[in-house]
Amino acid sequence: MNSVIENLLTRRSIRAFLEKRIPEEDLNLILTSAAYAPSAMNRQSWKFTAVTDRSKIQKLAAVVAKELNNEGYDMYDPEVLIIPSNSRDFIWGREDNACALENIFLAAHSLGIGSVWINQLQNICDVPSVRSILDEFQIPSDHVVYGMAALGYPASPDKNRPSKTGEINIIR
Ligand SMILES: Cc1cc2nc3c(=O)[nH]c(=O)nc-3n(C[C@H](O)[C@H](O)[C@H](O)COP(=O)(O)O)c2cc1C
Repeated sequence: MNSVIENLLTRRSIRAFLEKRIPEEDLNLILTSAAYAPSAMNRQSWKFTAVTDRSKIQKLAAVVAKELNNEGYDMYDPEVLIIPSNSRDFIWGREDNACALENIFLAAHSLGIGSVWINQLQNICDVPSVRSILDEFQIPSDHVVYGMAALGYPASPDKNRPSKTGEINIIR
């Protein structure tokens, strides 16, 4: 099996992270991988914002927790939060950002960094308390956030490896 397929088959969501810095060089590789994802009509109407200060991430998590009535929600307290955003007017923005997120997860895994999709912003990114933090993160006001990536070195060996049961069929 080649190393790309092996990386793809061994990635699993990680939901507990060490307090260990991700080297800038690796973060740049992950963000570049995101920006190389396919995008509809090659529009690339996205922006990738990486937040590397855990307290700033927790400031956003606290507002999300309040908005969703989910006390204590901390987005798994990641070392880095990558927030892909996309133009509100671009109809394929959601799909483009999903492609970019998968690139983020796979690039991170290849570097020994764990990750998980954080879905909680997509219906509340325009709520004023959330938007004001997105403003602080310099996310354009005409951008929406569909999904985010929590990143960090795994805190414990990856025991939760959900089996994959998707139906596969080849018609000959
Ligand atoms: C659209 C989407 C939204 C998701 N949202 C969340 C989320 O908010 N929180 C979370 O812990 N995992 C989230 N996940 C991760 C899935 O739970 C995870 O991918 C799935 O259980 C399979 O596990 P694996 O990633 O380890 O293969 C999301 C995944 C997708 C594709």
